[in-house]
Amino acid sequence: MTKTRWYKDAIVYQIYPRSFCDSNGDGIGDIRGIISKLDYLKDLGITCVWLSPCYKSPNDDNGYDISDYRDIMDEFGTLEDWQEMIDGMHARGIKLVMDLVVNHTSDEHEWFKQSRSSKDNPYRDYYIWRPGKGKNGKKPPNNWTSRFTGSAWEYDETTGEYYLHLFSKKQPDLNWDNPKVRQEVADICNYWLEKGVDGFRCDVITYISKEEGLPDGKFNPAIIGDEHFVVGPHFHEYIHELNERAWSKYDTMIVGEAQGITVHNAHDIVDESRGEMDCIFTFEHQTMVDSFLTTVPKKFSLRKWKEVFSNWQALPDTCWNSLYIENHDYSRALPRYGKLEYRKQVAKMLAISIEFLKGTPYIYQGQEIGMTNFDDLKREDYRDIVSIKIYDAVKKYACVFLPLVKWVLNKKARDHARAPMQWSAEKNAGFTTGESWMPLNPNYTEINVAEAEKDPDSILHFYRKLNHFRLGNEIIKNGTYKQYDEKNKKLWIYEREYNGKKYAVVASYTDKEVKFVPPIEWQNKPSKLVIGNYDGQPETLDARTLKPYEAFVYEL
Ligand code: NOJ
Repeated sequence: MTKTRWYKDAIVYQIYPRSFCDSNGDGIGDIRGIISKLDYLKDLGITCVWLSPCYKSPNDDNGYDISDYRDIMDEFGTLEDWQEMIDGMHARGIKLVMDLVVNHTSDEHEWFKQSRSSKDNPYRDYYIWRPGKGKNGKKPPNNWTSRFTGSAWEYDETTGEYYLHLFSKKQPDLNWDNPKVRQEVADICNYWLEKGVDGFRCDVITYISKEEGLPDGKFNPAIIGDEHFVVGPHFHEYIHELNERAWSKYDTMIVGEAQGITVHNAHDIVDESRGEMDCIFTFEHQTMVDSFLTTVPKKFSLRKWKEVFSNWQALPDTCWNSLYIENHDYSRALPRYGKLEYRKQVAKMLAISIEFLKGTPYIYQGQEIGMTNFDDLKREDYRDIVSIKIYDAVKKYACVFLPLVKWVLNKKARDHARAPMQWSAEKNAGFTTGESWMPLNPNYTEINVAEAEKDPDSILHFYRKLNHFRLGNEIIKNGTYKQYDEKNKKLWIYEREYNGKKYAVVASYTDKEVKFVPPIEWQNKPSKLVIGNYDGQPETLDARTLKPYEAFVYEL
């Protein structure tokens, strides 16, 4: 089918279902909770939801470990609830993109149960099994490490071999070199596409093809082995095949989570002529400030950040960008880019910086009300397998580093972004009437949706205005991008131009006042203020001193 490429006009909202809204008081968000918030989503001006996994799962990694791809997790509801949810979305003009987690399954998936039962089981080759090394075969087959720390191999008593898991040991990697596995994945996609889903967000998709022989990797602080499986030898072939067998038969958006991809190798995955994916999530701008959990946070550099975004904006017109600063894998964005005493201005400034770029913007639940990190996470507050693993390992083997690790987790733990959505100042932030599965951020009494509704100057109202302005806007969708004053360490200044019309975008990333002089190209032109993050911003674009984190857009 010919794709309409509807995603080029979309604004996506990511729901992490466990923490969004609980309808039945068991302390865990669920599908009926989502249904109850569909009008809220519609009002926000978003046009698509990316739903983090809602399939059956033992929840070792909160649903990113799937034990049945064709059914809904018990705590979240039933397939009937799911159908009502997607129908409710479609009735409101909202599309639904599901998470497709197929680099690995849960070890409780029937395929793996079969696979581990004997060496000649028909499912044995669905996963990656190897004998151990060393005299008595007790050393892992190679030196690869898991993203979640430790060896990427787990020894299994039943057959005396190791299986590969690039994440937790309860997330065994599928063997994509097995044609049956690839057909199973296509069948799963078609199952959901027939039910009406509008696309997939493909989890760690760049890891699916492993180099033959699984050679040892060279030292790498994040993960050893990367060079042997990130965009491995058959990656393009397998993705193209999946596209032909499933994705291209429907009017989909396929967005790949693309670890290890830079602007230099993105083209071959996302160019429209390739028949692979429509767009990817790059990590380039994220890893600059908040590289993976096992490393300490880095200082934010606006110059590098602008460079990364500007390079992605320069991709050919046949490629498309995804624009995001938050998701369930990072702590909240605001403290990374600004001082919290200016929370509202920082949130709005970031929203302007991102939403005026070319691409599909993503808003992660809570971002639209400026949710922040916990002040002090304790061991008993962690729910994320990664925080727990890191903390416990350091405590056991290197306890002198415990204060450092606590500090790092307080800045970076994924738990921060997974805290329940703050709907109101009522008990448990209106998220649940029961006992929440994880602690709420105590600041919910001030930062919550109900409060934001009442405040005309709130981040929520700002996002609504911005989203509605962006929808259908041809300059933002199609315009060229040009950056000014690249070396400026405080201001991001860029323009978008289409059919003789221009948007002049200026965003200050400092809490200090800063002088701004419009580039010559913008001077002496009629100008009109389109949107900004302070009251009383001048109607026309002139030189001036900007307030902390001030941002605005003028039409020229
Ligand atoms: C990426 C997901 O976003 C993350 O939450 C998960 O832990 C890993 N992939 C493993 O599935």
